[in-house]
Amino acid sequence: MTTTYTLRNASPAKTRAEAVVVGVLSSGKGPVVCDAGTEVARAWGRKWLPLLSSMGFSGKPGEAVRIPSGGKLNSAMLVLVGLGPDPDGTAVRRAAGVAARSVPNAASVALALPAETPELVDAVTQGHLLGSYTYTKHKSKTDDDSGAGEVIVLSPIARKADAVSAFAEAQVVAAAVRLTRDWVNEPPGHLTPEGFAAAVTEAHKAATKGRGAPKVKLEIWDHPTLTERGLGGTLAVGNGSDAKPRLAKLTWSPRGATTHLALVGKGVTFDSGGLTIKPSSSMVGMKGDMGGAACVIAATLAIAQLGLPIKVTTFAPMAENMVSGSSFRPGDIVTMYGGTTVEIANTDAEGRMLLGDALVLAVEEDPDVIVDVATLTGHLQLALGDKVGAVLGSQDIVDAVLLAGDRAGEQHWPMPIPEEMKERISASKVADLLQHDWVRWGGGLMAAAFLREFTDGRPWAHLDIAGKELNTGAAYGHVPSGGTGFGVTTIVEYARSLASKPS
Ligand code: BES
Ligand code: ZN
Ligand code: MN
Repeated sequence: MTTTYTLRNASPAKTRAEAVVVGVLSSGKGPVVCDAGTEVARAWGRKWLPLLSSMGFSGKPGEAVRIPSGGKLNSAMLVLVGLGPDPDGTAVRRAAGVAARSVPNAASVALALPAETPELVDAVTQGHLLGSYTYTKHKSKTDDDSGAGEVIVLSPIARKADAVSAFAEAQVVAAAVRLTRDWVNEPPGHLTPEGFAAAVTEAHKAATKGRGAPKVKLEIWDHPTLTERGLGGTLAVGNGSDAKPRLAKLTWSPRGATTHLALVGKGVTFDSGGLTIKPSSSMVGMKGDMGGAACVIAATLAIAQLGLPIKVTTFAPMAENMVSGSSFRPGDIVTMYGGTTVEIANTDAEGRMLLGDALVLAVEEDPDVIVDVATLTGHLQLALGDKVGAVLGSQDIVDAVLLAGDRAGEQHWPMPIPEEMKERISASKVADLLQHDWVRWGGGLMAAAFLREFTDGRPWAHLDIAGKELNTGAAYGHVPSGGTGFGVTTIVEYARSLASKPS
């Protein structure tokens, strides 16, 4: 079922829908209905608080209960979701996601959540769109009724222009996150570099066709082209696979753009580790190793659809890291795009080989700033867990990305690139750079130092999102299990900050 979203200023008690969702805050004195839901609580009168207390509902984040409305409302069902003590955009986005999963198949749902500002309208809309995501493409029995039919976002500012545009833009950004999830979820035998490139071509076509659609240039570089241009890092990694590498380049160049952002994403469609093969259990989930590429591609299309007045050039190298008689080897020396030579020590440190090529390509475009997104190291997953991303690089760009992450409802944390990392990557006796040194400490920081060598000293930030691209546990907030789309909202917010900055 396709879901339609509408924004309306109406009473939650009077709105006709199958279910009405009401947000409830947790306070020291017990649960308190949010302003948007006041009329619903009023419909229960004095029986409201005893009702919540009998169910043990306190308004904590993640809580959700369903209650038949018994004719007290124009909707048959009431859904209460917890907002926590002091809900900001992030809490509202999560609650809307929880709400979406509580009534997955309702014909119509009205959302009475905090939506008094454009930012909150965005949070409610995005939260619902993201929380309701499912990936059923390869299920032979699909439930035709899955998904809500109509979702009504209730907001007191529904008629204001800035609310209307926040509502529309939230849908564009959510679609980009959902697209990223689809690509990450796709099995690696389907989403080979060639399959990924075909999927990008299709998404690009969909985003750029029709009246009013943005003009985004897409190039797919095939294997002969990569060979001819000498993308040595990407070719080395992809050589062991029958599914040969590709590269996607996207350009959004609106008239009048003053700032130029280059994006780079790691597109390893499956990471077996290569000859430095991964232990069996670590290989599970390595279909998500193209999560960085998926993120920057989907974000670029969204930035164009939003019409943001900055230039964006995006490079996504794609390769499969496999084991065969033609795999690259520890001891090999690889000449990267641009001529830097790299001594290979560990074929499982393959991401930096693709990114090195792509960063040099990005530099050649003469951007003002470069941001790369990559599922790069288990080290930074170990350090920060599976919900918080690492950001490394130039201090001012790192700071700006962290701010964007806050607004986008994603958690990121800064990590340093200490002086000694430069020594570690310079320790090769036979090539310009050493790819890996088998020292276990600080591997994520060393990887960033390696990437920095390819950035020409330009303003740059590196987002290591390893472990964030796939949620191996149960759904929470607006994040389903499986592909998460991590990074997309942060990149779009960062692009917005560049677009609004006078330069
Ligand atoms: N794709 C992995 C990193 C990864 C780990 C992604 C966990 C998602 C979840 C990457 O290519 C890799 O294998 N990194 C090595 C780096 C090491 C060889 C320096 C790692 O994590 O051990
Ligand atoms: Zn990898
Ligand atoms: Mn690897």
